[in-house]
Amino acid sequence: MGIAGDAEVIRRIDQWPHNKRQPLLIVAAARFLGAQISPYRDFRRFLDHHWDAVSEIVLSRSTQTNEAGRCATLLPSLAQISAAEGRPLALIEVGASAGLALFPDRYGYEFVDTGAGAPDESAADPAAEARTTRLVPDGAQPGTFPVLRCLTAGPVPLPAEIPRVAWRAGIDLNPLDVRDPADVAWLEALVWPEQEFRLERLRQATAIARERPPLLEAGDVNEQLVELAGRAPGRRRPGGIPQRRHGVPGCRRPLPVPAHHGGPCRGAGLPLALERRPHGGSAGRRVQCGPGNG
Ligand SMILES: C[S@@+](CC[C@H](N)C(=O)[O-])C[C@H]1O[C@@H](n2cnc3c(N)ncnc32)[C@H](O)[C@@H]1O
Repeated sequence: MGIAGDAEVIRRIDQWPHNKRQPLLIVAAARFLGAQISPYRDFRRFLDHHWDAVSEIVLSRSTQTNEAGRCATLLPSLAQISAAEGRPLALIEVGASAGLALFPDRYGYEFVDTGAGAPDESAADPAAEARTTRLVPDGAQPGTFPVLRCLTAGPVPLPAEIPRVAWRAGIDLNPLDVRDPADVAWLEALVWPEQEFRLERLRQATAIARERPPLLEAGDVNEQLVELAGRAPGRRRPGGIPQRRHGVPGCRRPLPVPAHHGGPCRGAGLPLALERRPHGGSAGRRVQCGPGNG
């Protein structure tokens, strides 16, 4: 808000390439460099003192917010695919960032049925306990995994258990490495500062990914997907997790479906996407994760 009324800062921002003039980028870059929540006057002083460094971060990094919470919206479909195939999943995520959404089998879930209407956080009162489905990853100790809370409405086919994942891989123009402190600090800076619960979730998910980092290929989905799918272990069908399409601007539609091009995967791959419904569209099944899950 302060920047919007600050002609001098806007003048400086206008010197960056068009695709870098994003509010989240400048705020995340400042936070990455240590800016704290403060009145705009102090934030402006911080920008003045660190402008060259802020510019360098903005020009060298991009918005790569990695939200493990999105796994809650994907889980019902992933479980259906696994059940229909009678075997574990091979996952490929398009636009994977650090790959945190590649671990749906390592997170816990809390699905709260809010009835037939639109999912509404206010409907999730203590009385909703009876309508809550909890799923816990196999063999994990409480407190060692994030619990992804998700409101549902309508006939969402909640699984009785978390599907197993036999293989996971991602593609990103610039994969982030959960073992690299600078990449992790950037992921943390991309979380809005008041959303402490997301930071906590990010840290738990990062710790899980760090135990056994996923295979992440650097490159464009349009060029890499077929080859990567060909590397999935044989006799497993890849159920891809493209991220919300608006976050993968270069992604041509439809996504290439790998197994049509041969390779060891039997049958067609199944693209699975998180997409926003157009306003006014009616949904047979609706899931909405806790605030900030996207
Ligand atoms: C906002 S992040 C989302 C990360 C993750 N999918 C999630 O939902 O938490 C979008 C990611 O897509 C990647 N991306 C954008 N266009 C791409 C392309 N054509 N090929 C591969 N990755 C792409 C970006 O580098 C970025 O890391």
